Amino acid sequence: MLQTIYLETHLQEIADHGWSVLPIDHQWAQSLAEIARARQKQNEFKTASLAGSAELQLTIRNDQTLWLDAKLNDQLKIEQETLSKLADLQQQLQNFFRIHLSEFECHYAYYETGHFYQRHFDSTEFNNKRIFSFVIYLNDKWQAHDAGELVGYIGQKELFRLPPQIGKMILFRSDIEHEVMPTNRPRWSVTGWFRK
Ligand code: OGA
Ligand code: MN
Repeated sequence: MLQTIYLETHLQEIADHGWSVLPIDHQWAQSLAEIARARQKQNEFKTASLAGSAELQLTIRNDQTLWLDAKLNDQLKIEQETLSKLADLQQQLQNFFRIHLSEFECHYAYYETGHFYQRHFDSTEFNNKRIFSFVIYLNDKWQAHDAGELVGYIGQKELFRLPPQIGKMILFRSDIEHEVMPTNRPRWSVTGWFRK
């Protein structure tokens, strides 16, 4: 999945700038995309939840998610391998940053056309267990007019703007504010967090 030859370079980018885009094997991501679509058809996805009322929440985010963990129905080999690669990455992050990460969590995410996730932090002063966020994109032939970019901010300034194109994984510090722009096309990913 992860082409880890230059992993150190990417980890150094995160140390210097807070984020990095890593290459992901295209075929691998394509297989995950097919599995995600099949699981969504079988109604395994749920509207994503935040604390607070359901109506308030839908104005903030309206994606659907499915946790990719041991409780998943009929976990497939490639899903297990993905989790195992992410466990390796957790180890590399620990070694490079000399911090302890206790675990990671991740889910498939699906945004229908028109859906978005407003500016937010994955980690705050009060809920600071998430240290690094990542998103593996599963969308083939994404075009500029498809929109749905992930935009990172430092204050009002854009730090990054990334189309959710297959073959890429963004890894960034969870205390960086970010948003998912409204998408003009169904948008699929595996999104997760390395936690302390
Ligand atoms: C999230 C998130 C970004 C993306 O789920 O918290 O910010 O590009 N996702 O899907
Ligand atoms: Mn987020």
